Amino acid sequence: MIRLEHVRKVYPNVTPLSDVSAEIHDGDVISVIGPSGTGKSTLLRCINLLERPDGGRIFLDDAEITAPKCDVPKIRQKMGMVFQSFNLFGHLTVIENIMLAPVKLKGASRQEAFDEGMALLRQVGLGEKMLNYPHELSGGQKQRIAIARALAMNPDVILLDEPTSALDPTMVGEVQAVIRDLAKSGKTMMIVTHEMNFARTVSSRVFYMDEGGIYEDGSPEQIFGSPKRDKTRRFIQHLKVLELAIESRDYDFPGMVSAIENYCRKNLVAPHTCNRIQLAFEELVQQILRPELGISIVMEYSESEGSVVIDVRNNGLTKNPLEGADELSSAVLRGAVSEINYSEDSGVLKLIIR
Ligand SMILES: Nc1ncnc2c1ncn2[C@@H]1O[C@H](COP(=O)(O)OP(=O)(O)OP(=O)(O)O)[C@@H](O)[C@H]1O
Ligand SMILES: [Mg+2]
Repeated sequence: MIRLEHVRKVYPNVTPLSDVSAEIHDGDVISVIGPSGTGKSTLLRCINLLERPDGGRIFLDDAEITAPKCDVPKIRQKMGMVFQSFNLFGHLTVIENIMLAPVKLKGASRQEAFDEGMALLRQVGLGEKMLNYPHELSGGQKQRIAIARALAMNPDVILLDEPTSALDPTMVGEVQAVIRDLAKSGKTMMIVTHEMNFARTVSSRVFYMDEGGIYEDGSPEQIFGSPKRDKTRRFIQHLKVLELAIESRDYDFPGMVSAIENYCRKNLVAPHTCNRIQLAFEELVQQILRPELGISIVMEYSESEGSVVIDVRNNGLTKNPLEGADELSSAVLRGAVSEINYSEDSGVLKLIIR
């Protein structure tokens, strides 16, 4: 029902969305996850036209909403938006906040809007707060009111941008419960969230955003259980990554050793593990591999496992580099690591240090 075709959004210094295409179907509940600054909010804001995309097209039920003559206020009524910071009107009571848009924009009578508003207030468990003002409510209650207000226009889709991240932890659950009920009712929703457990359990689909777009799109089971792509896996498993590239024989060895040291310090890698990483690195690049061919090294540290997985590629080498190595170097390397494997298919030497 919502279709994005090659959507692009450019800011002066960054391009959060470089080329995004996706289809969002009726009844989809999509969690949008990813590191900070990867365009999650921008994506939602483009979909409901709070931001104009710089390229590409967006369709709602086959009507192009990015077309120049499109009636933007009308489109926006079909999409409820819920923000991190609630955005309730402070001078209006709770029930007036909810009645405002139906009366003003949809031409509902005050009685209709009131009846409908009260039903929604009860749905979010706040019927008794109808005459309170927003400042008299807790954060969790304000957010539940904001959700009720978005529902009052009976939108086709609800877009929620980090709906619980401004809340005191004790109030997160009550707001998540309201969103869960909505998801079960079949409402189409997109939810930007940093709460992975919530994303995993509430949604039918997950967008992992990175590199200027939807980097991986899959079911929660797939994205959280067996992510296909590197960056998704690193994000989901909280892996800390260090990439090193060696281009010639006179590369900066001390600089790389200190980069490894900093990486270990920053990520609280145990000192004995750090020593073994440095030893393995030194033995490999100084004694065993051929730096002049170019070496790329990717380290992934898993805090939960306390282990480091190191992928090493030496360009142009087609056989196991350990086979030609002298015995001492090979023994030192094997002593430093817990596991070592070479894959001929990928040409990757994989070291694991626990
Ligand atoms: N109005 C703007 N003007 C300039 N740059 C912007 C604007 N809005 C967002 N950006 C930049 O675009 C990038 C994407 O921002 P966005 O808010 O979409 O990220 P996000 O994925 O929602 O991050 P977070 O998880 O921190 O909320 C960021 O680098 C941000 O600084
Ligand atoms: Mg954001």
